[in-house]
Amino acid sequence: MNYRHAYHAGNFADMMKHGLMLLILRHLMRKPAGFQVLDTHSGCGLYDLTATESEKTGEWRDGIGRFPHTVEAPEALADYLGLIAQAGAPHFYPGSPSLVASVLRPQDRLVCCELHPEDARILRRNFRDRDQVAVHERDGYAALKAFLPPRDLKRGLVLIDPPFEQIDEFDKLAEAIATSRRLFPMGIVAAWYPIKHRAPVRRFHDRLRDLGLRDLLDCSLLLRQPTDPTRLNGCGVLVAGPPYQFEDEARSLLEALVPVLAPDGEGQALITRVAEE
Ligand SMILES: C[S@@+](CC[C@H](N)C(=O)[O-])C[C@H]1O[C@@H](n2cnc3c(N)ncnc32)[C@H](O)[C@@H]1O
Repeated sequence: MNYRHAYHAGNFADMMKHGLMLLILRHLMRKPAGFQVLDTHSGCGLYDLTATESEKTGEWRDGIGRFPHTVEAPEALADYLGLIAQAGAPHFYPGSPSLVASVLRPQDRLVCCELHPEDARILRRNFRDRDQVAVHERDGYAALKAFLPPRDLKRGLVLIDPPFEQIDEFDKLAEAIATSRRLFPMGIVAAWYPIKHRAPVRRFHDRLRDLGLRDLLDCSLLLRQPTDPTRLNGCGVLVAGPPYQFEDEARSLLEALVPVLAPDGEGQALITRVAEE
């Protein structure tokens, strides 16, 4: 395991993933009944953007660093940027578990899985005073069977955000989405993936359809056309069971991000129905 999210926190991929995740959480919060978020690949929760790791890549400068926190934010980004600012941006950037934890109500719960021992230790320490948050140092894929369906709760989100270090990660991701939907049909699944070139994404979508999955919406943000497979040209979040009106909200969010993250005009926001309900 070489991947450490500290090198990438606050980059364009985090912004689109976390912005979309927050839209889903806001939908879940519209009803009083509690929900569970299962974050299968959590990272360590909070990132210091002045630390050596962040400074080494400087990725956050082309992400959250492009959004001044003093001027009025575009409406579609206001909620997300407001929470990020509360968490300490632009000096600190909250990872998925910290963002989720910041909006949990007393009736909600967050289950985090992180396989890297050091990140799991930091994550556990970050949440040591939060009864609603459980941290497990374990394989997030295998954890699906342990934590789905949620105990006592009927609603929820499964966030799957693997590091894509393995060549079969797209296949594992497709299987994990299918497993999540089978074990927790009422739940929403959001799965992140990188876009280097188009062919692997096409295969991923085909695989999801082959698995018989329904009601799939793909949200992608391209910084440039994905013609050079050696570069991270964009990324996507595949949402299974998207909430009502999420599609329009996701489009507004991505369209607000694109001109800032890809100012040379080559960027694109794409929302695609991969499978109907
Ligand atoms: C992309 S990062 C997660 C970032 C986090 N979701 C966020 O948005 O802030 C992927 C994380 O998965 C961890 N990881 C890798 N393989 C894993 C596995 N099989 N199960 C759980 N965690 C894993 C890595 O150590 C890394 O911290």
